[in-house]
Amino acid sequence: MVKYGFIGTGSMAQAMIQGLIHKNILPSDIAVSSPRSAAKLSEKWGVVALPVQQLIDESDLVVLAFLPNQLDNITANVDFHNKLVVSVLAGINVAQLVAATGTTQIVRTLPNVNVANNQGLTAFAKETLTSTNDKIFNIFSDYLGDSVALAESQFPVFSAIAGSGPAYVFKFIDALAQAGIDNGLEAALATKIATQTVLGSATTLLKSSQTAQELQNAVASPGGSTRAGLDDFNDQNFDHVVSHAIKATIEHKHL
Ligand SMILES: NC(=O)c1ccc[n+]([C@@H]2O[C@H](COP(=O)([O-])OP(=O)(O)OC[C@H]3O[C@@H](n4cnc5c(N)ncnc54)[C@H](OP(=O)(O)O)[C@@H]3O)[C@@H](O)[C@H]2O)c1
Repeated sequence: MVKYGFIGTGSMAQAMIQGLIHKNILPSDIAVSSPRSAAKLSEKWGVVALPVQQLIDESDLVVLAFLPNQLDNITANVDFHNKLVVSVLAGINVAQLVAATGTTQIVRTLPNVNVANNQGLTAFAKETLTSTNDKIFNIFSDYLGDSVALAESQFPVFSAIAGSGPAYVFKFIDALAQAGIDNGLEAALATKIATQTVLGSATTLLKSSQTAQELQNAVASPGGSTRAGLDDFNDQNFDHVVSHAIKATIEHKHL
């Protein structure tokens, strides 16, 4: 039985913990440590709130899930005993993690919030994948969604598309729903229609042998109303808007 320990209990830690609990990991096998939220989370989900050193001592796998700028501060006074450590800290590379934690048993990952419903996508730094930490790869794949192994140099683009991407998909859903409202639909109904359409379309694409572009053309018959809409997206340079936002995301410096 693996004992999981989370240092930091914010949005990402909570999303991962929810995903683990959905997959029948016992809350009593999950420990959490943070100055304010850990005790509340313990009351809410039955996970175990512990001081940070005790959490490390009692966990098989320690997840670093605090803000990147807290790394040195939080790791300064603890001993990781060469425990298996999984970092989800965006923008912190393996060399920095090794230096801060003093352990070489470290796996750099980048999950996204969809791990909460076991539909996440997590990147693993290829540089940190060894036979000893294959089990981490399996945890993210089997319990939390899917995973991909990437070179660290590709983490910024992965972070923009998969880490920040859920926010951009929510933005698209919101815009689609708002267009429905502007044209007479009631708000809750418009949101339901937009959400299910995005979910169903993503599932169709996942199951299809066709590309996203081919599927666009399959929906848009020549001279039809969908073609008119797609032409308008192209006239407004929709692809450029998206690629511009992704570039801004990649180029943003982490705090
Ligand atoms: N959110 C995402 O979608 C996402 C995606 C990929 C990667 N990440 C990474 O996940 C990490 C956490 O992000 P987040 O969005 O979950 O941030 P967040 O919601 O702001 O949570 C930060 C957490 O750090 C805790 N913390 C602060 N000081 C601490 C200390 N001294 N010891 C232990 N914990 C401490 C806070 O505890 P209190 O609540 O008790 O104050 C809080 O639970 C970041 O490194 C980020 O790069 C996030």
